[in-house]
Amino acid sequence: MANWMIREKGYQESDAATLGNRYLIGNGYIGIRGTLEEYEADHLPAINLAGIYDRVGEGWREPINLPNGCFTYLKVDEDIYRLPEREPVSHEMTLDHRHGVFGRETVWHTPRGNITLKTERFASMHEKNLIGMRFRISADFHADVELLTGIDCDVWDLNGPHLEDILMEESGDIAGGELIVSTHTHEAGIPIVVTECIHSDASVEIKSKRKEMKLLHRICLITKPGESAVIEKWVAVYTGKESYEPRKEATDLLKRAYSDGFETQLKLHMECWEKLWKHSEVVIKGDEIAEQAVNYSLYHLHSIAPRHTQSLSIPARGLSGQTYKGAVFWDTEMFMLDFFIMTDPATARTLMKYRIDTLEGAIAKAASYGYEGAFYAWESQEGGYDACSDYNVTDVFTGRPMRTFFRDKQVHITAAVAYGILRYVEWTGDKTILDKDGVRTIIECARFYHSLLLKPVEKYRYEIRDVIGPDEYHERVNNNGYTNRMAKYTLEAAVRVIGEANVEGTLPEGFDADEWKKNFAVAAERLYIPTPSNRPGKEGVIEQFDGYFDLEDTTLDEVRGRLLHEKEYWGGAYGVASHTQIIKQADVVTWLNLFDREYDIQTLRANWDYYEPRTEHGSSLSAGMYAMLACKIGEPDKAYPFFLKSAMADLKGGGKEWAGLVYIGGTHPAAAGAAYMTAIEGFAGVSVVDGELKVRPSLPRSITGMEFNCYCRGVEYKVSIDGGNAEITPVGS
Ligand code: BGC
Repeated sequence: MANWMIREKGYQESDAATLGNRYLIGNGYIGIRGTLEEYEADHLPAINLAGIYDRVGEGWREPINLPNGCFTYLKVDEDIYRLPEREPVSHEMTLDHRHGVFGRETVWHTPRGNITLKTERFASMHEKNLIGMRFRISADFHADVELLTGIDCDVWDLNGPHLEDILMEESGDIAGGELIVSTHTHEAGIPIVVTECIHSDASVEIKSKRKEMKLLHRICLITKPGESAVIEKWVAVYTGKESYEPRKEATDLLKRAYSDGFETQLKLHMECWEKLWKHSEVVIKGDEIAEQAVNYSLYHLHSIAPRHTQSLSIPARGLSGQTYKGAVFWDTEMFMLDFFIMTDPATARTLMKYRIDTLEGAIAKAASYGYEGAFYAWESQEGGYDACSDYNVTDVFTGRPMRTFFRDKQVHITAAVAYGILRYVEWTGDKTILDKDGVRTIIECARFYHSLLLKPVEKYRYEIRDVIGPDEYHERVNNNGYTNRMAKYTLEAAVRVIGEANVEGTLPEGFDADEWKKNFAVAAERLYIPTPSNRPGKEGVIEQFDGYFDLEDTTLDEVRGRLLHEKEYWGGAYGVASHTQIIKQADVVTWLNLFDREYDIQTLRANWDYYEPRTEHGSSLSAGMYAMLACKIGEPDKAYPFFLKSAMADLKGGGKEWAGLVYIGGTHPAAAGAAYMTAIEGFAGVSVVDGELKVRPSLPRSITGMEFNCYCRGVEYKVSIDGGNAEITPVGS
C-alpha cells in the first residue's frame, strides 16, 4: 500500500524554514509554505502568488507574498499558547501529499489541564482563489479559549515591502463578519485583495480586532471535556490582473465556500487531486521508499503547475517563496517539462507558450548585447525580463558584489527553449503550437546562435566562444560542448521547422526561407562539436571546454579543504574550483544524456566515470542527469542513489538554504522532474520513436515492477512492467 503521508513529530524551531518547503501546499496559483499558523514574518511564512512580480528601489524584482490570511493563534485562560514561545507537550505536522492537505496537532499543558489545537488547510485545486482551513480545539477541562485568526499584513519579504496603501476593513455581509485587506503592488499598482470569514457550529462570540498590522477575528468559547469545538475558515484571494472587481469576486467566493461548508469544498478539492493522480501516479513495486519519493516529487510539480492560465511557466523554486527572484530558468524545459508532456499535455503547452509569448523580451536582450535573434533571459520574469543581475553573488570576504556572467554568457538557455517546444511537438503531435509565433520563436532562437558563431581565420569551422556551460564554476570558456551541441540542435531544428512552415504558410512575413535554411544548415554543419579524446588516461572522454583538461586535476575533498569560508562561492575569478577540473554540476553528462544515440556505450561510460568524481553536485539539477545517463549505459543500480537524491531533494532537505543572512532556500522542482524522468525514461525506458511509444525497462535491483500512464500523440497509455517485461495498452481499450 503506497504511503501518501509525511509526518514530522516533535518541535524544533530551527527547522521552520526547511519544513516550510517540505510541507508546502499549492494549486499553481498560490503556494502556501508549510509553516505554522501562528508564525510571523521572522519564521518565513508565505502565501506566494504565481506570475506577479514587484520591485522596490534598487532591490531585486521578486514575486509577492500575500497578506497572510492563515494567521492564527490560541489563548487559554488569558494566556497565549503558540510556538515557539510556549513549549508543547507534543507536536506533529502532517502532509497528505495525495490530496494537498496540511495538518498540525499541538498539545500544550496549561495550569488547569491539557489543550489541543488541530488544524487542516488546503489551497483549493477546485477554486484556485480559495484557501480552506479547519480548527479543532479540545481540552480535558472547561477551558476558556480565544482563537485569534485573521490576516497578518506584516509580510515576510526579501526585498520588499511590495504592498502599499494597505486598507483593513470589516464587513457584515457574511455571518460572523468578513475581514477584507485591500492593497496594491508598489511598481505596477496591481490591486490585491485578501478576504477572510469564519464559520462554527459551536457557540462562539465573534469580534474583530486590529492589532498592529493584523486584522483578526476573535472567537471565544468554553471547551467541554471530551468534545472538540470546530471552526472553519475561508480565505479568498483575487488580484486586479485577473479581475476588474477583485473585492467583489473575493467576497462572492467566500459566500459560496461559507454556504458549501468545509467538507464539501474539501471533497471537491480532493477530487481534483484524484483526477491528477489518475494520469500521473507512478506505482513502483518492491521499493516503497522510491515509490513515495517519486510521488512526493510529483506532488510538488502538481502543486505549482500553472493550470489556471494558458501562458505561464514555473519558477526554479516553485511557489515556495521569493528566492531566486521567482524566476524561470532552463530548469523548466530541461527538467520539468517531460513530466507534463507525459501526464498533462495542456500544462506542458502553457509552459512553452510562456516562452513564445516572451519572445520580444528575448529579442531585446539579444539586441542589447549586439546579437540577432532571441537570447532568452537566464532568470525570466514577466515579459521575458531578465532578473539576473551582473553581480549575482556577494563576496563573503569583502561583502562586495561579485561580477558574475550568468546573465550574459549562459547562452545555452535559448536552445532549451527551442528544445522544449520541439519536444512538446514530438511527444504530443500538437503542431498548433508552431503557429506564426511558434515558428518565429524557433527561427529567432537559431538566428541568435547564427549571430554568435565565430570562424577562426586559420580553421574551417565555426566556434562559440566566451560562454558559461551548465557547470557555472568555469566562466567565459570557449567551445563548451554542451552549448555547441545544443546550438547545433537549434540550427538544425530551425531548418526542419522552416521547411514545414513554408508548406503551411506560417513563416514570418518577408522571411527568406531558402536563404535562412541554407544559412542555418551550413552553420549547423560547420559548428565545432568536441569529440572523444584519445589522450592517454582520458580515452573516450570529451573535454568540457577548450583547455579543461589542462586545469589542475584534483579531488573534491582537496578543493573543499581550500575554502576559507563555508559560504564562499566556488566559481568566478577567485573561486576554489575555477582553476581545477572540479565542476558544479553535470555538463558533458547532460549533453550525452540528450544525445546518447550518437555515441557508443564505452564513450558514454568513460564520460560518466571521468566526470562524476569531479562533480560537486552543487546544484540539485546534477544528480538526475547522472542517474539518467547511468540508465542509458545499462547500469540502473549505479543510477539508483542519484535518482533517490533527486527524488528526495525536498523530502530530505540538506540543500543550501542561507547565503549569509539571506534565505536562498525553497523547493526543488527541477530535481523532482529529473526524478520522474529517471523513473519513466530511465528505469522504465520510455521513449517515442517515429511517433510511437516504446518501453525498454531496465530496473534497479530493488524495483520489481512499475505501473503508470503516459500520453503520447494524444493517446493515453497504461504501461505495466513486470521485471524485464513491459505491456503498453491504450487507456479505455
Ligand atoms: C544552477 C542552474 C539552475 C539554477 C536554478 C543554479 O544553482 O547552477 O543550472 O538553473 O540554479 O535552479
